[in-house]
Parts: sequence; C-alpha cells; structure tokens
Amino acid sequence: MKYSLEKRALEKQQSDCIVLPLFEDLQLSPAANYVDQSSGNNITKIVERKDFDAKAGSTMLLSSESEQHTRILLMGLGKQDAFNPATLKKSVLAATNVVKNTQTKTALFALSGITLPDYSSAWLARFSIEAISDALYVFDEFKTQKADKVTLDAVSFYCGEDIDDALVEQAIKEGSAIASGVSVTKTLGNLPGNICTPTYLAEKAKVIAKNNNAISTTVLDEKKMASLGMHSLLSVSAGSEEPAQLIVMEYKGGNASDRPHILVGKGITFDSGGISLKPGEAMDEMKYDMCGAASVFGTMTAIAELQPAINVTAIIAAAENMPDGKATKPGDIVTTLSGQTVEILNTDAEGRLVLCDALTYAEQHHNPASIVDIATLTGACIIALGHHTTGLLGNDDSLADELLNAGTKAADKAWRLPLFDEYQTQLDSNFADMQNIGGRPAGTITAACFLSRFAKEMKWAHLDIAGTAWTSGKNKGATGRPVPMLTQYLLNKAG
Ligand code: BES
Ligand code: MN
Ligand code: ZN
Repeated sequence: MKYSLEKRALEKQQSDCIVLPLFEDLQLSPAANYVDQSSGNNITKIVERKDFDAKAGSTMLLSSESEQHTRILLMGLGKQDAFNPATLKKSVLAATNVVKNTQTKTALFALSGITLPDYSSAWLARFSIEAISDALYVFDEFKTQKADKVTLDAVSFYCGEDIDDALVEQAIKEGSAIASGVSVTKTLGNLPGNICTPTYLAEKAKVIAKNNNAISTTVLDEKKMASLGMHSLLSVSAGSEEPAQLIVMEYKGGNASDRPHILVGKGITFDSGGISLKPGEAMDEMKYDMCGAASVFGTMTAIAELQPAINVTAIIAAAENMPDGKATKPGDIVTTLSGQTVEILNTDAEGRLVLCDALTYAEQHHNPASIVDIATLTGACIIALGHHTTGLLGNDDSLADELLNAGTKAADKAWRLPLFDEYQTQLDSNFADMQNIGGRPAGTITAACFLSRFAKEMKWAHLDIAGTAWTSGKNKGATGRPVPMLTQYLLNKAG
C-alpha cells in the first residue's frame, strides 16, 4: 500500500473515495462542506434528517455527484470529548472495511479540522495507517480459496492547509513502518508450529539480513550453545526433534562504539508444556508462544525501514517444548549459562528457562545499554491485566518509564507490576540455587523475579504479553503487539 500526504487544495483533489470523518454533533469540517457543496448537498440532507449517527465504527457510503470523487464515505468518530487513538483506530478500521469491499483504488482520508487530545495532528495519519493496515491484513496462506483481491492500492491524507508537511510525512513514514512490522509479527505468530519452527525463524532472520545492509544475523546452533554452557535453554528443546536456535540480529544505525539497546524475544514455536503437559483445550494456541520473538522481528523490520541513528540488537531464544523420552523431567537440575543452578519443578515454565540464558548471553557478548525481553510468559498476566494491557516489570525506573511512555504515546499500553524482594523467596529450592516456579500467588511477578536474577548487572525490563499478543475465539489471530510500543521506544531513544 502506498501512503502519502495530499498536498493539493480541496478544489484540486481527486479520489475514488473520499472519507469524511464526523463527530456525533454532525458539524461538517471544511473538507466535508466543500464536498457537500460540489455534490448536491447530499451530506447536509443526511445530517438534517439525522440518518447518520456518527458513532465510532458507523459508516455510510454514498455515491458522489462531484466530478472529483467517485464515492463519499461518512466515517463516524463518536463523541468529540471521548475521542482518543482507540476510537480513531476503530473508526478507520470500520471505514477501511467498507472501502475494501468496493472497487476503490485510491482513497483520500480528509482529516483536517480534527485533533486528538495530547497529540499533534500528524498522529492522526499515523494511527490511521495502523488501522488501515489492520483492516487489510489477510492470512490465507493455507487456504486453497484465497480471499478476494482488494483493489485499494493508494491512500492519502488531507490534513488542512496550516500543517507542517515534513512532520506529517515523517508520521506517515513511521506509521507505514510500524504497520509493516505489525504485519510481519502477525504472520509469524499465525503460522502453524509445523512450519514456524526454530529453524524457520533462524532462516527468516538470515533473509532479513540479506535484504538490509544495516542488519547482520548470526545463529548459534545447539552444539555451540552446549559448548558455551546454555544448559537451561537446551533443557527446553531436549524433548523436541526440532533443534533450538539462538538468533542474533544486529542493526547498526549509530556509532560503532555506541552500546546497543537489546531486545530479547521468547521464541517457543510450540509449547505443549513438555512432561508437565498442558490440558488439551485450546492447546493449538500455544503456537503463539513465539509472539515475543515475532514482535522483535516486527520491530527490527520497522527499524530497518526507518533507519534511526541507534544500535539495536535482537536476540531470539527459539525452541520447541515437547514431551519425549529425552525430555526434561520435573525435578531435573540444570546449570545455566550464568553458573546459577535451577531445579525444574514444572517443565511448562519453560519461557524463563530459555530467556535466562539469552539474558546472560547478551550480557556476556553484547554489552547492552539497556535490555528488554518480550515474552508470552505467564497465564497469570492474563488474570492480572486481561487482554488490553501488557505487563511490565524491571529493575530500572527510568527504563520502565520510557517503555510506559512509549506505550501510551503509541496507543499500545503497558502497566508496571512490582518486583519487590519479598517475592524472591517463592523461588527458594531445597536442592538448587532456585526453582523455576514460585507457586500460584503473583505468578507474573515470580516469573520476572526469576529473570531478574540473570539481569542484575543490566538496565533491564520485561514485557509479559501473554494477554496482548493474540486474540482467542472465533477471530483468533496474532495482534502484532507490542511492535508499536517497542518501535516508539527505540525512536525516542534515537532522539
Ligand atoms: N506460554 C505459557 C504462558 C501462557 C499461558 C501464555 C496461556 C498465554 C496463555 C508459559 O510457558 C506457561 O506455560 N506458563 C505457566 C507457568 C507456570 C507453570 C508457573 C503458566 O502460566 O501456567
Ligand atoms: Mn509453558
Ligand atoms: Zn510458554
């Protein structure tokens, strides 16, 4: 999809479909007024008859009598005083769903006269692009009957005369880079476990490096990991026919000497629970247990497109968690790369076992300025925060604040949970330095407590995306979160 800024004046504009936003007070914007006058006052009549309620998500498609636009789509935005990024996205998503079922090739969103509280007007275009891309996303690789091809191939935004073109153009760039990243993340997440294996992810990372001069990829195989001493990570793949992979992607946009900001992704391509086997219901959803890794791939995609002046290193701990004669058993004790020993009481608490070695590897080999891990780590996080908010924990207040702020700005929110020392004793083991589970209370916090023991010397934060990475039920699928937050965080870092 081509996204651009419409710089022509209202009289010069042309499109197959002009999208006109309306709040519930039904006041026409200058653009809507102009189109109304050149189209037989169609819109005024509808407004006067109160035939359109303008609720967020309602739309009305009109055939236009104007020479300039073939179609007019009224897009409801809801109540003006309740307007926020989420309602904007909901509205644009609904509008795009209508447009994509017409023969429209070029759509023009006339966003002039609308402002989002706390945001400059450029953000309207950025959030709109994210919503448009969301509406147009299809995953039909495994359908023999493909979805109908959508004719829409160019979207432009009119933001009025008194705007800073460069600012909006930058927002459009960021919006489309984030949208590409989100789409990469969704597709990796949606791929089934028999296709998207640790080896598949490693190949994917090599392709990314091949297509981007600023990115290089290195992959450590099981032999290499064993020689380094990553026995915790390897204990997870022990029961699988699929070998684990430690994937490192380095983006160099800053000075060679700048320490990198590191993203570590949990890449469990299928989590059966291992010997501590999960119940059968909805077990298919455990193919999404690599969504942390997928979000790191998505963020690297966005970063490669935007080329910020910063160094970013991605580390993916990829493995499949399966039961087998060679699988790790409850009670087994392993030595981590850090030297600390772990009594594995539940093989289903495998995410922390791969992440701990990845964290130590990052510390030993990549000298991070900051490190953020992203993981579908605990069912408990869904109980605590539901599906709207990502869990955030960490050992550094300023890093945590930077992530929270980036999430708020990018409309991809997180909420911090405490990491008080008191919780650490839940990990005490009779036989090893620690055990890998902390009991039922505060499951998200004790999981993070476990990770914190491997991040003591680093500025570290942990994002638990168990509730936000995918949607269950009839419309199940990966969401692409938290790519917007992570990309925003890194763009802010680059200044
Ligand atoms: N991948 C799961 C966490 C998960 C569960 C994410 C459901 C999304 C939906 C993780 O590996 C896991 O199994 N965690 C266990 C930990 C427990 C054994 C301490 C959990 O949350 O039940
Ligand atoms: Mn598990
Ligand atoms: Zn898992």
